Amino acid sequence: MKHGRIAGWGKYVPKKVLTNSDLERLVDTSDEWIVTRTGIRERRIAGEGETTMTMSVAAARQALDRAGLRASELDLIIVATSSPDYMLPPVSSMIQDRLGAQCGAFSLVAGCTGFVYGLATAQQFIASGAYQNVLVIGAEIISRNIDWTDRNTCVLFGDAAGAVVVQASDTPTGVLSFRLGSDGSGAEHLMVHGGGVVMPMSQRVVDERAHYIRMNGREVFKFATRVLARAALEAVEGAGLAMDDVDLLIPHQANLRIIEVAARQLGLPMDKVFVNLERYGNTSAASIPVALVEAIEQGRITENSTVVMVGFGAGLTWASAVVKMGALDRPRYALWRSIPGRARARARVAMRTLSMRAGALLLPLYARVTRR
Ligand code: COA
Repeated sequence: MKHGRIAGWGKYVPKKVLTNSDLERLVDTSDEWIVTRTGIRERRIAGEGETTMTMSVAAARQALDRAGLRASELDLIIVATSSPDYMLPPVSSMIQDRLGAQCGAFSLVAGCTGFVYGLATAQQFIASGAYQNVLVIGAEIISRNIDWTDRNTCVLFGDAAGAVVVQASDTPTGVLSFRLGSDGSGAEHLMVHGGGVVMPMSQRVVDERAHYIRMNGREVFKFATRVLARAALEAVEGAGLAMDDVDLLIPHQANLRIIEVAARQLGLPMDKVFVNLERYGNTSAASIPVALVEAIEQGRITENSTVVMVGFGAGLTWASAVVKMGALDRPRYALWRSIPGRARARARVAMRTLSMRAGALLLPLYARVTRR
């Protein structure tokens, strides 16, 4: 059986920063309330011209570069998002086209849990031997589905995109085990009522502001603290491991208090838990891949690290995965490795010949100059 090594990783976050004090000018809230209840200090907001497609492509290009892979070598693209550019076509096909990939692509909707669902799906295509290289993206522009007059939601979310390349490998790396969960009986707690087939887009939808996210924060909080630790533990046990074997937990970055409860329930010290929500807020399906990229960049994940990713979100859904990291290749060689093998060998010979010829030309010149 083939394993799905995480061979490349990339992220994109918009430049525009919206701080808690900026929000104080929009709604009746305070920096103190937001920080103590959520841990969030600022979030990124997509600017004009930025869409889920453009942000995904930026993150994907970085991931492909790190994997030393060209887009044309991809076999499949999976995009987890609840904020696609359009209702139709799926944003996954727009991303495939912009990247210049020639492969299948589909979008996946599982709320904030989407990226872990995508990762588990990618692993199945690799394990079955069907595909060699699968790109998994988690990307969201939640800011455009937010009611900026609703303090219950507008302080929580932000925009971002993260991507990984999952590549077939013979060594047991990548997703070792996973758990996927869903409980639709809690659907009403996190919902966009308008714009679907039950309540198609109309003036009434706009008047009732039903095209925006509505959330029962307390219920979602209770749900999250109920499932997060359990899902993580089930995946760890499914991999035949114990919590002591885990090097880093990457939880969905929604609320610091939820993360702390889960860490306590798991008996994990906070230095084994990755948190970056203070800078980005809840970026939904992008939160886990962006956190993964930053954990690698900060050296919190190294070669052979055992990482547990666990998410929860609309649906209600949850998902967890135990991932064994393989070799973390140096990005600086990525461009060189992106040249196909035979062309690379030819380029190497050409460069050697060129340097010998240059040497032969320069040597007499050097001798003449040094004689003076
Ligand atoms: N600023 C100031 N006050 C606010 C506020 C804001 N931004 N948002 C809500 N409040 C108010 C509420 O209206 C409520 O007032 P009331 O008691 O007069 O009705 C009060 O603060 C307390 O609300 P409560 O729901 O008890 O707060 P909380 O401690 O549960 O924190 C959340 C609220 C939303 C931060 C918390 O419930 C949460 O994080 N839930 C999970 C949300 C989540 O993760 N969603 C995404 C899932 S992917």
